Amino acid sequence: MDFSFPTEIVKEGQVSIVVPRLAAYVKEAGEYGPSKAPVFYNPAMKLNRDMAVLAMRAYQKKLGREISVCEPLTGCGIRGIRFAAEGEVVGRVFVNDINPEATKLAKFNFDRNKMAGNVLVSNEDANLFLSRYAAPLKRFDYVDIDPFGSPVPYLDAALRALRNGGLLALTATDMAPLCGVHPSACVRKYGGKPLRTEYCHELAVRLLVGCLTMMAAKHEIGVEILLSHSTDHYIRVYAVVHYGARLADKSVRMMGYVVHCFSCFHRETSEGIISPLRRDCPECGAKLDVAGPLWLDRIANEDFCFLTKREVDQRRSEQERRILKLISLIQDEAESPATYYVVDKICDKLNLSVPPLTKVVDGVRRAGFQATLTHFNSRGVKTTAPASIVKEIITKLST
Ligand SMILES: C[S@@+](CC[C@H](N)C(=O)[O-])C[C@H]1O[C@@H](n2cnc3c(N)ncnc32)[C@H](O)[C@@H]1O
Ligand SMILES: [Zn+2]
Repeated sequence: MDFSFPTEIVKEGQVSIVVPRLAAYVKEAGEYGPSKAPVFYNPAMKLNRDMAVLAMRAYQKKLGREISVCEPLTGCGIRGIRFAAEGEVVGRVFVNDINPEATKLAKFNFDRNKMAGNVLVSNEDANLFLSRYAAPLKRFDYVDIDPFGSPVPYLDAALRALRNGGLLALTATDMAPLCGVHPSACVRKYGGKPLRTEYCHELAVRLLVGCLTMMAAKHEIGVEILLSHSTDHYIRVYAVVHYGARLADKSVRMMGYVVHCFSCFHRETSEGIISPLRRDCPECGAKLDVAGPLWLDRIANEDFCFLTKREVDQRRSEQERRILKLISLIQDEAESPATYYVVDKICDKLNLSVPPLTKVVDGVRRAGFQATLTHFNSRGVKTTAPASIVKEIITKLST
C-alpha cells in the first residue's frame, strides 16, 4: 500500500506494524517526532501498552468469558492490534480515530497482522463513537482511553459505553497540571487541587480517580481501582465500574483531602468532600496546604496485581524484568496508606547524609510501623509512621 508519508516497520509484542518513520520528522535535536508525524505512534509508550495487554488478559481470565474491547483514540492501531493478537479470548476489537490517515493506517495494520476479521475501524470523534455503544447489549467489557494529555474529555462517554463490571483504562500525560505546576488547569480539568509535593505523582493518580469517581457517580456508577501506575511522564489507572446508586455513594465516601505541612513533612488525610480541614500543623504550627478533593481509597488491588504478574511472559527480557519489578512494587504497596516520604528530600532539608533506603525501611519496621518501598519514587517509603518518627530514624542512621 502507498502512503503519502515515509514509513517504517516496527515490531512490538507479538505484532509487526507500519508506522510513520519518526526520524523523518525530527528536524532538530530534542524535537518530539510522534507529534509531528501524520499518524501518531510513540515507541516510548511500549511499557504502557505492555501493561495494558497484561491487565486486559488478567481481567479477561477473571471474567472467564470472551470480552469486547474498545480503543477510541487508536492512532496507528498498535494497541488495538496487540489486544486482538495477544488477548487469548478477545472477541471483537473496536478502534477509532478522528484522523482519517490514522484509521487508514490502522486498517492496513490489522490486515497486515491477519486480524481484519476481528476489528471494526471507525473514523469519527471519540465521544460520538463511544456514544453509539452506550446502550444495553452494545456496551464494551474493556475501554482503553489513551489520549494526548488528559482523558477527562472522554470519561463521560466511556462510562456510558461500559457494561456493568467493565474495565476502564485511562492514561493521563498532562503531568504539569496534575503535579501542581499549573494548579488552576488541574482544578478546571479534574475538579481537585494538586500540590507540588514529593509525592505529587501519587496525588496525580488520586486526582484522576477522584474525577472519574465524581463523573461515574452522576451516572449512579461506583468505581473500584484494580491497578494504577506512574511511569516516565504519564499516569495510568485501571478501574472497574459497578452499576448502582449505593455503590456510587460508597465510592463518593472515599473522596477527601490530603493536608500537608511543607515545613515539617507532616501529612494527614481528611475523609469526605465537605469535611472541615485542619488549618495549622499539629506538629510544628506552620500553615497547612491541601490537595483535593481526591480519591483516598486503594489505588491497586493485590489479587489483581498477582493475576497481572501471572500474565508476564517468564522469558525475562529486560522489559519483562522491568514490568515484573513494577507490578511487584505496586502489589507490595497496595494496602499502604496514602502518600510517601522521600528520604533524600528529608536529608536535604535536615542537612543530613543520605542513609541506604533499606535501612530506613528496616528502622521504621523495627519501630513498630508498616513500611514498604513505592513504585512512585525509587527513593520513597510508604509507611504508617508519622513524619516525626521517620525523621528521627533517618537522623539516627545518618549520624
Ligand atoms: C496519544 S494518541 C493515541 C496513541 C495510541 N492509543 C497508542 O497506544 O499508540 C491520541 C490519538 O487521538 C486522536 N484524537 C485526538 N482527538 C480525537 C477525538 N476527539 N476523537 C478521536 N480521536 C482523537 C489523535 O488523532 C491521536 O491519534
Ligand atoms: Zn508541620
